[in-house]
Amino acid sequence: MSEIFIAKKTINSSVLKGSFVSKAPSNIALVKYWGKKDIQIPTNPSLSFTLNNCFTKTELFFEKKETENDSLDFKIYLDGELKEDFRPKIELFLTRTKKYIPFIKDYIFEIHTHNSFPHSSGIASSASGMAALSVCLMKLEKQINSDISDKYFREKSSFLARIGSGSAARSTHGRVVVWGETQDIEGSSDVYGVKFPYKIHSNFENYQDIVLLVDRGEKQVSSTVGHQLMNGHPYAEIRFVQAKENILKLKEILISGDLKKFVKLVELEALTLHSMMMTSSPYFILMKPNTLQIIEKIWEFRRSTGSDLCFTLDAGANVHLLFPEKEKDVILRFVESDLKVFCDSGKYISDFIGEGCIDKV
Ligand code: DP6
Repeated sequence: MSEIFIAKKTINSSVLKGSFVSKAPSNIALVKYWGKKDIQIPTNPSLSFTLNNCFTKTELFFEKKETENDSLDFKIYLDGELKEDFRPKIELFLTRTKKYIPFIKDYIFEIHTHNSFPHSSGIASSASGMAALSVCLMKLEKQINSDISDKYFREKSSFLARIGSGSAARSTHGRVVVWGETQDIEGSSDVYGVKFPYKIHSNFENYQDIVLLVDRGEKQVSSTVGHQLMNGHPYAEIRFVQAKENILKLKEILISGDLKKFVKLVELEALTLHSMMMTSSPYFILMKPNTLQIIEKIWEFRRSTGSDLCFTLDAGANVHLLFPEKEKDVILRFVESDLKVFCDSGKYISDFIGEGCIDKV
């Protein structure tokens, strides 16, 4: 199936020099991707909300080589500074995608990238970063071959992003995105993300996400290593079945607008992700004492107010607070009075569900 994404031989060889810009958002998974085969083929489907304020903006400068050769020629900059330590990841990405975008060997690239969130926030930039770069590369492909359809552009942008980082497959589209094949979501695929294809209840309109920055240090275990630990994990198979069932449950919740069920399912998914890490070999605890303090506070708040606030976690200690827009003022006051104290330097980021970078393409 991936073969359909091999670019046609160069049609317009007069594309000599220029640049493209893309801004791709980060995303937060509600049903988690944890475990993969080959190059980011997920062992279970996942579903995420696309964010708005946390994004990567990338400008890709390109210039045609004077003489043809097979080497990949690029430089990568973060906020104007040459980043040699980003090189291996981008080199691997370009090497793996070369089969699908063979024209990249005809150009010299400069990749200039900027994240809206601080580098040391514990928020991974690989999803938004790989998505932004992939969309820039697709803009170049479209300039070389203007025949490509909007559908092909959308699917291949996510397809390329996935080759860079699994969760990046969900960062090219907006709002609610599913990645990973399941009979319960029409059009879903293991090789690219798709927009949730059903009407979402108005309760989820502008759903809010406040990211509490509990630990801004380097991750103890990279996602790549974490995924590998699912190979031979004693609970892996049952987890993959559960995730698939949770996609169906969440689909029904998103359609019906049942926030009580949403809270239960989202928190169960977050804690299941962490329980997989706690029971792998080697095992890890990525939550910090403050993560647990926050969870206790959320549960207490929910009991005493009847709020629909809930949390989810990434593979780290930060806590994402998810809640309906109508609770925004109350939750912000609660964060200021009770939760901020558990954040590193009192820092948190307010965000909400946003549009993806290619929705208008
Ligand atoms: C816990 O996409 O970062 O955030 O595919 O190896 O790059 P690679 O991993 P990555 O894994 C994300 C894991 C997660 C859950 C999720 O986003 O679904």
